[in-house]
Amino acid sequence: MNDVRPMIMLQRLHRFFDNTRAVDDVSFEVMRGEVFGYIGPNGAGKTTSMRILATLDLPTYGDALVDGFSVINDPDRVRRRLGFMPDAFGTYPNVNCREYLDFFARAYGLRGRERSDALKHVMGFTKLDGLAEKPIRGLSKGMKQRLCLGRSMIHDPSVLILDEPAAGLDPRARIELRQMIRELADHGKTILVSSHILTELAEMCDRVGIIEQGQLLAVGAVEEIQRGHAVLSEVEIRVLENVARLRQWLADRGDIENLVVDGELVRFSHAGDRREQAALLREMVLADFSIAAFGCHVKSLEDVFMHVTQGFVQ
Ligand SMILES: Nc1ncnc2c1ncn2[C@@H]1O[C@H](COP(=O)(O)OP(=O)(O)OP(=O)(O)O)[C@@H](O)[C@H]1O
Ligand SMILES: [Mg+2]
Repeated sequence: MNDVRPMIMLQRLHRFFDNTRAVDDVSFEVMRGEVFGYIGPNGAGKTTSMRILATLDLPTYGDALVDGFSVINDPDRVRRRLGFMPDAFGTYPNVNCREYLDFFARAYGLRGRERSDALKHVMGFTKLDGLAEKPIRGLSKGMKQRLCLGRSMIHDPSVLILDEPAAGLDPRARIELRQMIRELADHGKTILVSSHILTELAEMCDRVGIIEQGQLLAVGAVEEIQRGHAVLSEVEIRVLENVARLRQWLADRGDIENLVVDGELVRFSHAGDRREQAALLREMVLADFSIAAFGCHVKSLEDVFMHVTQGFVQ
């Protein structure tokens, strides 16, 4: 795909509610065909930013652009290019799935053959074929999520904004959702998807942005963020003799913190990557320490998330 251009741009976006800075100077771009994960704890400002992109709210300052069109100056053009899956599903209990999708297809101005083709395509893609006549009140959470995704893509938008689409889904439904999102991106759709949980999105996203208290704390590929936040690995070694000498030898190095000795066990935090840990082990052996065991635990994505965010709420 040669057509690499930003389909979503947040330009110094601000949205205040009285004293709450729900979105506080957020800027990032999402390129065509990219899946961008918008991650943050409750109240971080994810829904507020997404509602502005979907033209349901306006910024206090700054702007948001979809395919180059401003949500402030060109909301109609933005709406035609964008599908929004809100975090809460509207209540239409007595309508069946086909009627529901048909309603939104009509609202987007689809007529005749074009509308029936769109319905067929969306019901096939979201695996709602067998549920066409089922009333919405009889749908499970996962089925409702699929219907909501179907509704957001009925007019074949080039940009999809999905607000916590995986919330409340079972593991299989999550995997299926992930596959659907990847497939949409492979067909050139640009996708902004939010979650509280970094690990939930890490696999499906090309890049992520971590937001807390309205501020973007980190943006990039997950591995980049992991590296940038040089989270320390925990190392534990068992040494058979000369424990005191090893303690001093380690303390003299610059890449070790939190050194604790407990009998034969020596524990510390190490700033290096796996290669550097292997080099450390080699050096210890060459310095004549009798190392009987060497184990290291690299911090998980959850640890990185906890490290980036502070847990403040406003
Ligand atoms: N209409 C509103 N009036 C007043 N405050 C609001 C309004 N909408 C959002 N807020 C506040 O803005 C902040 C961000 O809320 P937002 O819903 O964007 O967070 P979120 O990241 O989507 O959180 P969650 O994970 O809980 O969905 C919160 O402090 C919230 O209370
Ligand atoms: Mg939200």
